[in-house]
Amino acid sequence: MKRTPMEAVILSDSHIKLVRAINDDYSAKTGFKRRAFIKTYGCQMNAHDSAKLESMLSDMGYERSEDEKNADLVIYNTCCVRERAEEKVFGKLGLLKAYKSNKPDMMIALCGCMVQQNAILDKTLKIHKHIDIIFGTFNIRRFPQLLFSRIETGGRVVDVWDEHDEIDEPVILNASFKASVNIMYGCDNFCSYCIVPYVRGHERSRRADDILDETRKLAANGAKEISLLGQNVNSYRSGDTNFAALIRMINDVDGVERIRFITSHPKDLSDELIEAMRDCKKVCRHIHLPAQSGSDKVLRDMRRGYTRERYLGLLAKLRAAMPDIDVTTDIIVGFPGETERDFQDTLNLVEEARYSGAFTFIYSKRAGTPAANMPNQIDEKTAKDRFNRLLAAIYPIALELNQRSLGRALMVLAEGKGANGLLTGRSEGNMTVHIDADERYIGSIIPVKITACKTFYLVGEIA
Ligand code: SAH
Ligand code: SF4
Ligand code: F3S
Repeated sequence: MKRTPMEAVILSDSHIKLVRAINDDYSAKTGFKRRAFIKTYGCQMNAHDSAKLESMLSDMGYERSEDEKNADLVIYNTCCVRERAEEKVFGKLGLLKAYKSNKPDMMIALCGCMVQQNAILDKTLKIHKHIDIIFGTFNIRRFPQLLFSRIETGGRVVDVWDEHDEIDEPVILNASFKASVNIMYGCDNFCSYCIVPYVRGHERSRRADDILDETRKLAANGAKEISLLGQNVNSYRSGDTNFAALIRMINDVDGVERIRFITSHPKDLSDELIEAMRDCKKVCRHIHLPAQSGSDKVLRDMRRGYTRERYLGLLAKLRAAMPDIDVTTDIIVGFPGETERDFQDTLNLVEEARYSGAFTFIYSKRAGTPAANMPNQIDEKTAKDRFNRLLAAIYPIALELNQRSLGRALMVLAEGKGANGLLTGRSEGNMTVHIDADERYIGSIIPVKITACKTFYLVGEIA
């Protein structure tokens, strides 16, 4: 069932029209539009894939549904980076079985990273017979074809590929003021704990011209903030263009006001890139630079390719070049063999690095990765305890850094209206800011005077 495709060109556009005709016919008969619901798990890469699916769904005549219950088509775009993410999806699939027994026409599709694992795919096929379509991370573009095939044949459609060299992605042109652009796919780093390289394939960079072309079109359609996406954006290379050169090119695109990128890997963060960030005024003064651990021994066992000293040296260089830059990170506790001493090194790294935010994780064993077979796996209680102590170290620093903004004006992209009635947006440092302002500012970058500071957000008014 798994295969590496021979055909490079995929004629999905014609399938979009075929499904559209079926849905238009349904609407003409019933007076209702068919509705689709997508639930996305995992990282920005998956979120962007879901945006591509949404764009295809809209072209196929589907209306968006806000929940599973009212949907004719339910799509789960899955993540498997930690066990918890997978458990959630299996839980949801169980629930859907009940919905579907009341509504037999409902169609269920499962895609994303989870199904790229053979064992999980086999288990899913066996246990969850109510899933109609399963496809992997290499063939998002074929979705309309798979959907059409399911509608026509009535049989289950499974299309999961091991690898795919072609980069032939649908482009989303009707973007809002915030848009993402994939610059690369896959990862070659094989950090010992991580499953991503196995489910997203080897690293492939897109052509710089294609990236620029997509960015120009997005900007022409109103995108002000562009996020460049990749598992390791610093190792981007296409022909003579490396990542530093790429951001200089993006910085010159008219209409783009802000540039972000995620994720940077410390081992590939060059001086040239730091200079490019400093020179490019549209590049937000923020970097997400996952440290993972503060212990050299753990970093070595994780195969991260840098030491604590080198990591802290990078932060010093970044701050020397851009004194106001905010730094956020990812940290894992409870990696196999992590001693209390090692963990103390992570705590004091946090003190030294001074993060304005951090994603923190308890190590999760992933079948097939080297760390899963390492000795001295850490028990749950110890890991949980370290996790709580880590948060207790991170929060006061984040609050202290936020408090520096009190009384100052920050430039904030207003993104929408929150439940509290205030607008909500993001500062350059990617901090959430609640703004006392009216809705017409949504989509604009506005100066906001900060009046209150919390650990996870700021509050302000138009300056
Ligand atoms: N490519 C990015 C991140 C991808 S995964 C990078 O290298 O920074 C996002 C985060 O999930 C990682 O940074 C790591 O902190 C965490 N993660 C990955 N595998 C994990 C595992 N097995 N258990 C716990 N956390 C994990
Ligand atoms: Fe996973 Fe490491 Fe690749 Fe990030 S760089 S996706 S953590 S293997
Ligand atoms: Fe998860 Fe896949 Fe992203 S495993 S973190 S959704 S690349």
